[in-house]
Amino acid sequence: MSKNEDSTINRRQFMRTMGALPIVSGAVMMSMCTSGCSEESSTSPLTGEKVTLTLANEPELQSNGGAIRRAFGANMNSNRPVIVVRTAQDKFRAMSSYCPHEGGSIGNPTGSKAMCSKHGAEFGLSEGNFAQNIGGQSSPTAQTFVVTYNQSAGTITITF
Ligand code: FES
Repeated sequence: MSKNEDSTINRRQFMRTMGALPIVSGAVMMSMCTSGCSEESSTSPLTGEKVTLTLANEPELQSNGGAIRRAFGANMNSNRPVIVVRTAQDKFRAMSSYCPHEGGSIGNPTGSKAMCSKHGAEFGLSEGNFAQNIGGQSSPTAQTFVVTYNQSAGTITITF
């Protein structure tokens, strides 16, 4: 085999390799997206874990429209803070602070809304629009969690 034949074979091999490269790299990208994208999901898997708050210890939740933003630990909501709002005398709601637009952080409630610091999506905190995108950057609705109110015990329980 001459030196020229060697270089011809090498060129052919190179072209075959280059032809296959987009397929291989596409498959690698797909597998990366499959695992990476699931971690970027805007929702946390529901675990059934519960946290109970005593309203006597939560002054912000003692009046209608009051709200808190808190992480509850133990990996609930993937350790993301949760916004809890008293939307009526006998009604409490909870939503994740994870922005479903591109994963920013929805900040502290101000009035009847909370805003994502990344691109400015605004989410409603009233009973009629809770967790819905009501202004700013367009976004899907934020994840919500079931809240039960035990009036006689003066507690609320959030189920993750
Ligand atoms: S990530 Fe929240 S507005 Fe874009």
